[in-house]
Amino acid sequence: MKKILEMLTEEMQQAFEAAGYESTLGKVTLSNRPDLCEYQCNGAMAGAKKYKKAPIMIANDVAAKLADSKVFKEAVAVAPGFLNLKVSEAFLLTFVEGMKAEEKFGLEAPAVPKKIIIDYGGPNVAKALHVGHLRSAIIGESVKRIARFMGHDIIGDIHMGDWGLPMGLIIHELSLRKPELPYFDESFEGEYPAEAPFTISELEEIYPTASGKSKEDAEYREKAMEATAKLQNGERGHRALWDHIMRVSVADLKRNYNNLNVDFELWKGESDAHPWIPDMVKYMKDEGYAYISDGALVVDVKEETDTKEIPPCMILKSDGAALYNTTDLATIRMRMEEYQPDKMIYLTDKRQDLYFEQVFRCAKKTKLVKPETELLHIGFGTMNGKDGKPYKTRQGGVPRLENLIAEINEEMLRKIKENSASKGYQVDEEEAARTSKIVGLAAIKYGDLSNQPAKDYVFDVDRFTSFEGDTGPYVLYTIVRIKSILAKYKDQGGCVEAAKLQTVQNDSEKALVMELTKFNTTMEAAYEECAPNKICAYIYDLANQFNRFYHETPIISEADEAKKAGWIALLSLTRDVLEACIEVLGFGAPERM
Ligand code: ARG
Repeated sequence: MKKILEMLTEEMQQAFEAAGYESTLGKVTLSNRPDLCEYQCNGAMAGAKKYKKAPIMIANDVAAKLADSKVFKEAVAVAPGFLNLKVSEAFLLTFVEGMKAEEKFGLEAPAVPKKIIIDYGGPNVAKALHVGHLRSAIIGESVKRIARFMGHDIIGDIHMGDWGLPMGLIIHELSLRKPELPYFDESFEGEYPAEAPFTISELEEIYPTASGKSKEDAEYREKAMEATAKLQNGERGHRALWDHIMRVSVADLKRNYNNLNVDFELWKGESDAHPWIPDMVKYMKDEGYAYISDGALVVDVKEETDTKEIPPCMILKSDGAALYNTTDLATIRMRMEEYQPDKMIYLTDKRQDLYFEQVFRCAKKTKLVKPETELLHIGFGTMNGKDGKPYKTRQGGVPRLENLIAEINEEMLRKIKENSASKGYQVDEEEAARTSKIVGLAAIKYGDLSNQPAKDYVFDVDRFTSFEGDTGPYVLYTIVRIKSILAKYKDQGGCVEAAKLQTVQNDSEKALVMELTKFNTTMEAAYEECAPNKICAYIYDLANQFNRFYHETPIISEADEAKKAGWIALLSLTRDVLEACIEVLGFGAPERM
């Protein structure tokens, strides 16, 4: 289905042509003055020079041609030459009937679907997830769902930090704590235990301890590096321990991401890129892309048009060790071989902007990707506390994700209880707890996604959990309200699915319908610009328009059955659109709240 502005523009173009002007002048946009009109066209202004005519004369000519338009019920030429437009109710009815009948509300599938890999989450194994990983997971999941809804072929890859020194640190610390374990006995040839010699909480304590020690103790660090090398060279006991670290960590990560309604198609990590490194390095040297500078192997990536200094991309350190860069380049190579993606999107905080610029340039220059392969980094801002500084716990530490979620859920539960008490009913404890989790997730995700990704935002529990204003709970509350009206209609013997849309009757109804018509435009823009915030803004407006209509219209008590059914059909379309939108944002709505 075409987008509404395309349809309106087509009608306008015909009018320009019929009046003897170039059709391209007939571009219709949303009105700048909603108090005067719904849409507008400024083409007459643009045509004045070419036709050497006062714009108002052109506008008058065009308006005359629209007198019998089935699309515009009003087209008025106003000084100095604008066309103020109001759309006809019959046209709107046809449009929303189309939305109701078609799959995905008439959103058009891409001519050629793209294969896109989305690299997000990026947790480091054996380290507790903290708020820094929250944004990557939330935004990445939404960007992924939007692209998939648009009809593209999407693969989400968690790309864990599961290789390198952190792993060596853990293994070395374990060898000191539990030297009796068979993993450290190089003569051991038997089968290693199936059970890991640590729990996730031990693991989460071991890593920071080891990391701290290595900073103070050179010998300790040396030993950890040895352990890293042994692991990377495939030493059997080290490898078996690493497998345990992975199993324990991944199980914990899965539980955490599951709570966030985030899931990945691929659970790959830096370790998967490791076998691809030697060949890639050889290729870069053989092709003459990489050269030795101060002992390190580098590829120049600066370009003439650069206004800031872009340092070379380092492929190997002077001691021959691989770096974060090396892993990312090898991962790109692996992905190109295994999946042939048209596009790769990475989500990390924006402090990695320059890093990805280097990696992408290097991948293009060295032809690891095709010239047309799109590489995109979405760098997001920081989640701040109310003091405007990066969010910290009350004790001043980096908050764990789990605690953050618990904090929101607790406040949500309190508000849900308060809300039901104010309405004079008692909620079932268990149901309230379940609901507060669903709504709490919406509060966190909406609080994040409603901002432009690149901007910092303030994590404000009180605001995020509010039932009023631009929040997740407000949107869910609206959906629940619609569901309850539809349920009442059913109780009265009505059939929601059979209800037919009617021509709109009043202003608030028309405003709601006009908001609905923006659905495919919004979804497309959110996809093109990787901007879930556009969908948040849209559902906030849609919820507002719905609530205004609801307050002005006694739906269930309406005596005229056809009219009532028309409203019910409109409500069910509104609910479906809202639910499709929250689905791509990565959260759902409860039945009641
Ligand atoms: N593990 C990294 C970190 O915590 C993020 C990984 C992002 N993805 C990538 N391909 N570099 O900073």
